[in-house]
Amino acid sequence: MDRIIIEGRNKLSGSVRISGSKNAALPIIASTILTAKACVLTNVPMLNDVLVMNKLLKTVGGEAEFSGSSLFIHNKSISNFKAPYDLVKTMRASVYVMGALLGRYREAEVALPGGCVIGERPINLHLQGFEKLGAKINIEHGYIRAKAKKLKGAEINLDVVSVGATANIIMAATLAEGKTVLRNAASEPHIVDLANFLNKLGARITGQGTKVIEIRGVSELKGGKYAITPDYIEAGTFLVAAGITGSKITLENSPVKDLEIILNKLTEAGCKIKISGSKITAQGIERPNPANIETQPYPGFPTDMQAQWSALMALSSGASIINETIWEKRFMHIPELNRMGANISVKGNTAVVEGVAGLSGAPVMVSDLRAGASLVLAGLRAKGTTEISRIYHLDRGYEQIEKKFEALGARIKRVK
Ligand code: UD1
Repeated sequence: MDRIIIEGRNKLSGSVRISGSKNAALPIIASTILTAKACVLTNVPMLNDVLVMNKLLKTVGGEAEFSGSSLFIHNKSISNFKAPYDLVKTMRASVYVMGALLGRYREAEVALPGGCVIGERPINLHLQGFEKLGAKINIEHGYIRAKAKKLKGAEINLDVVSVGATANIIMAATLAEGKTVLRNAASEPHIVDLANFLNKLGARITGQGTKVIEIRGVSELKGGKYAITPDYIEAGTFLVAAGITGSKITLENSPVKDLEIILNKLTEAGCKIKISGSKITAQGIERPNPANIETQPYPGFPTDMQAQWSALMALSSGASIINETIWEKRFMHIPELNRMGANISVKGNTAVVEGVAGLSGAPVMVSDLRAGASLVLAGLRAKGTTEISRIYHLDRGYEQIEKKFEALGARIKRVK
């Protein structure tokens, strides 16, 4: 298994280009099932999760080919409606094909995704939404089957703000008859990107980016070309890299407006931020100021930046509190950070961080994607060698992370 080795404690400098958003690319690729016409997606990140979604598209009979960061998709006719367990178990976002298949063919069968290391991850809200649109749901032998004679627009209220349920319901409602009103919807940038993509194909979706999304059903979609939005979590990770190493880094192609709370928090932590168009320059300081966070749905502080923030706060000049409100088990990075010399204690969904002056490199293990990012960041700051194993988690969501950090001057390499 590949590992990443970092010799820490040297300053970074220069520019890094932010890739397309993983969490936008996944539902957008799945949503192409809704049209029989050709689509071209550009700025697609080459990530393991994206490759799994492509495989899934091919498994149901679609056509998808990469050329650089462009993805050419043509789903003339889908020949089967089943997302098999061996793919779903490797990537939970596979469940997105359900809304798209149900939308176009009124039929879908998807393996039940299990829990995962960061939490239980139910999909009850997705299924309740499909039922409200007129689908019958059956769960048997580890598979969920959804079938409808026709789909009809409905009023749907989500009990909990869910990115996945919002995306899945948007897809199923796009070709339904009449109007769907989705309340307490997720307003994450990737939801906006999905809605904008579908609108480009002829869908009639309004309210994306707010808590109430309206979808007026249309009878069919056309094809089209669309550029995936840059990844605000990848951007946030590189901004924290400037903060944790006390370096000056410039991000190019950054989604500035999506980063508001992260930029505010970095400023509170003492980083100097300059914005010029889609370029952001961040200059970190030797010991960041303590800055508390509580994870919340967008526009709150993203849970997908919590682990990276924990690493930054580990080095702060005081004490800080991290509250994780979205995923009940998302503190797996904390014991690993403590092995590198951090002083963080966890009780329930709260971590209390007592900042330390320095970290020391150690062998550490990645438990999940963002935990992996926090260990890379800690390794960049730590004295000595950090050896990070199980980095396949990182490859799911960061495009060439070690190459990008190497280009910024980090002493980082991947070994087989
Ligand atoms: C997406 C992101 C993930 C991010 C998360 C929260 C993708 C591919 N993944 O995951 O990186 O951490 O949003 O921003 O975009 N819930 C229910 N019932 C449901 C669905 C969700 O109770 O049917 C709960 C979950 O347990 C969790 C909360 O809602 O506590 C948010 O989950 P959700 O937004 O659905 O996360 P994902 O879409 O799986």
